[in-house]
Amino acid sequence: MKAIVITEESEPIQLVDIPKPEIKKGECLVQLKTAALNRRDQWIREGMYPGIRFGCVLGSDGCGVVEEGPDEWVGKEVIINPNVDWGSIEEVQSANYSVLGMPKNGTLAEYIAVPSDRLQVKPNHLNLEEAAALPLAGLTAFRATIMKGMAGKGKNVLVTGAGGGVSQLALTFAVASGASVYVTSGSNHKIGTCIQMGASGGFNYKGENWHKEAAVIGFDTVVDSTGGNQLNSYLKIIRPGGRIVMYGSTAGYPEKLDTFRLFWSQAKIMGSTMGSDSEFEQMVASVQDHKIKPTIDQVFALDDYLQAFDRFKEADHFGKIVLTITN
Ligand SMILES: NC(=O)c1ccc[n+]([C@@H]2O[C@H](COP(=O)([O-])OP(=O)(O)OC[C@H]3O[C@@H](n4cnc5c(N)ncnc54)[C@H](OP(=O)(O)O)[C@@H]3O)[C@@H](O)[C@H]2O)c1
Repeated sequence: MKAIVITEESEPIQLVDIPKPEIKKGECLVQLKTAALNRRDQWIREGMYPGIRFGCVLGSDGCGVVEEGPDEWVGKEVIINPNVDWGSIEEVQSANYSVLGMPKNGTLAEYIAVPSDRLQVKPNHLNLEEAAALPLAGLTAFRATIMKGMAGKGKNVLVTGAGGGVSQLALTFAVASGASVYVTSGSNHKIGTCIQMGASGGFNYKGENWHKEAAVIGFDTVVDSTGGNQLNSYLKIIRPGGRIVMYGSTAGYPEKLDTFRLFWSQAKIMGSTMGSDSEFEQMVASVQDHKIKPTIDQVFALDDYLQAFDRFKEADHFGKIVLTITN
């Protein structure tokens, strides 16, 4: 079968032929129709991910049809929960935790063997591309925005870097919760599109004083994946006792942190990563209830995988980048 693996070549990701996986007891063989890229796939390509295993099939997100396995699954269109060994504690993942696609073989392949408890039936209102775009970004956005960020009616929520794949879903979960939602983006055009999607307004983070306008509104929750020095801006716009939920660190560490503002505002800076298996089910249920659809930036053919990864690298995208794996 065809699969995108990580190698030690000068271009580390390569489309190669490898044997089709064989299923063990309790597993299903899924023929993947579509798969979505995540920032971690690009981090792995750039060698910036811990514990890289060369030869590993990349990809955490996929949608396909079950070809072999228990009768109740065969023939079903499914999405895959990318959690591997979250464990039994809701609050935090186990020490053995990993995400599908490193070190376990992932979804950027024609077939994957996964335990049947990782499967969920594809929500009916999603097409194959939208369904592939949901799992990792949806789970991350749901935990950060709803479970930790406690977005809901009467709350002001700021979703930062709104063009990102996860942020787009954070925006839709926050809007569906009834919160008043604002965004930041480096693009005024992207802010305009977010307003059409239900945001009440937005701020361009490339402007030096965006936080002054945002402070006038005041936020109960900031959902952020950028980190860096903007953390201090978030402390200027958070309401007393508010929550800054961080699930990524694209801009690296802040050079300094305004700890005076932090303690005086009684703010909480909270880390969040992926989510538990039960949150995955709750996320899919919420997507079904509210008919939420992930935003798709572009769909590429499997053979054009390098263009798809390069599009991610350029950071000009709006929403998720998807690959068609098999027709
Ligand atoms: N912990 C977890 O479980 C988890 C899960 C998924 C992702 N992540 C992390 O979260 C981050 C985003 O992932 P993704 O897949 O959504 O990536 P993505 O689609 O590439 O989104 C990144 C977005 O960050 C925004 N951005 C860039 N510089 C910014 C700045 N200075 N201030 C504010 N926003 C800025 C951009 O927004 P605009 O285009 O609007 O300017 C960009 O679209 C990555 O660091 C990833 O590793 C963590």
